[in-house]
Amino acid sequence: MSALLFFKKQSKLTAIKTNIFEEYITAYLIRKATSFQECNIADLFCGSGKNGKNLGSPLIIINIIKKIFQFKYICDNFKINLFFNDIDEENIKYLHKNLSTLTINKKVNIQIFNDDFHKIYPHLLSKMGKNSYKFFLLDPFGYTDITIEDLQRMFSLPNTEILFFIPIFYAYRFANYQEANGKVKDFLKTYTTKGIFPYKNVYTFSKSIISKISKLLGTKYIREFILKDKSQINALFLITKDKKSMLIANNIFWQYSFNGKNISSSMKINNFNITKKIFSLIFYIKKKLSSTKRNLNREIVNNLLLKGISEKQAQIIFFKLSQFPKFKTIISRITKSWYNIYKYL
Ligand SMILES: C[S@@+](CC[C@H](N)C(=O)[O-])C[C@H]1O[C@@H](n2cnc3c(N)ncnc32)[C@H](O)[C@@H]1O
Repeated sequence: MSALLFFKKQSKLTAIKTNIFEEYITAYLIRKATSFQECNIADLFCGSGKNGKNLGSPLIIINIIKKIFQFKYICDNFKINLFFNDIDEENIKYLHKNLSTLTINKKVNIQIFNDDFHKIYPHLLSKMGKNSYKFFLLDPFGYTDITIEDLQRMFSLPNTEILFFIPIFYAYRFANYQEANGKVKDFLKTYTTKGIFPYKNVYTFSKSIISKISKLLGTKYIREFILKDKSQINALFLITKDKKSMLIANNIFWQYSFNGKNISSSMKINNFNITKKIFSLIFYIKKKLSSTKRNLNREIVNNLLLKGISEKQAQIIFFKLSQFPKFKTIISRITKSWYNIYKYL
């Protein structure tokens, strides 16, 4: 989609992406506002604040923050630094205009930049306090704008999360193109485990990207959202070290996905795949529990998180397993670990 069209009218895919972002950042900020004193949110490809009549990421963030400050359990000294950047001068001009009509809480400090993201982010990293919470929204148009080294550098700071959008289908089209060169080749080489390779489909391609990011950034907790609309397929990745964040992302995923694989703008309900997934997980846990006497609580909770399970599904799985007398006691212990994760949301 052209840049001009993007800001004139919001596509279905962009609307889904925006909803996911909105739900995630709301849930997570509520948690952070009760435990952290400083929060840095950097939207480094922020656009003008609007696309068509709809709100773009900067205005969404500001609206959420307004609600957060009405929340009664918020830390007394909690403050938020917002960093907005876009390379396009017009976008930044409109962003200033869009923000000028809003009343913004005094505890929110906004800085706006108009530069290439590569020049801006190193400067921002040095400003962010060690103990603060950092959230980077990376929403470029192209898949070659952000290198894996950029991600590594951002993620090396403590308490950091990245929500990273990749128009994955454009990269996937070249995945087995031996003559690929320049930035495309660099992308395939650095972002995938197999480089130029005949991937079975776009899902295995995405898994290869996840494995590579996971290895280079040193975290297992990466939640993918594959977004489909007609011939367009994009991916949104949440990269975190925090299991609770992973659980929030899993819950959000299942609100939108009806097949457990992707989120489609023309959602066709297909509970068969979900049931199949739940049964395969029940089978997996039963096998684990039968084959060892070790305490598996942590391992099972972790595995379910990584397999993308939501809380609702976890409850179904545990309920079904608790009906086997053999597993009753151990399952009640695992359920406790699962709720411990839930308790802190
Ligand atoms: C998909 S749009 C962002 C949309 C925005 N998140 C929203 O919700 O409205 C991508 C933006 O990245 C900007 N951009 C492209 N290359 C950039 C770069 N190297 N550095 C910073 N911004 C860039 C474009 O001007 C465009 O506004």
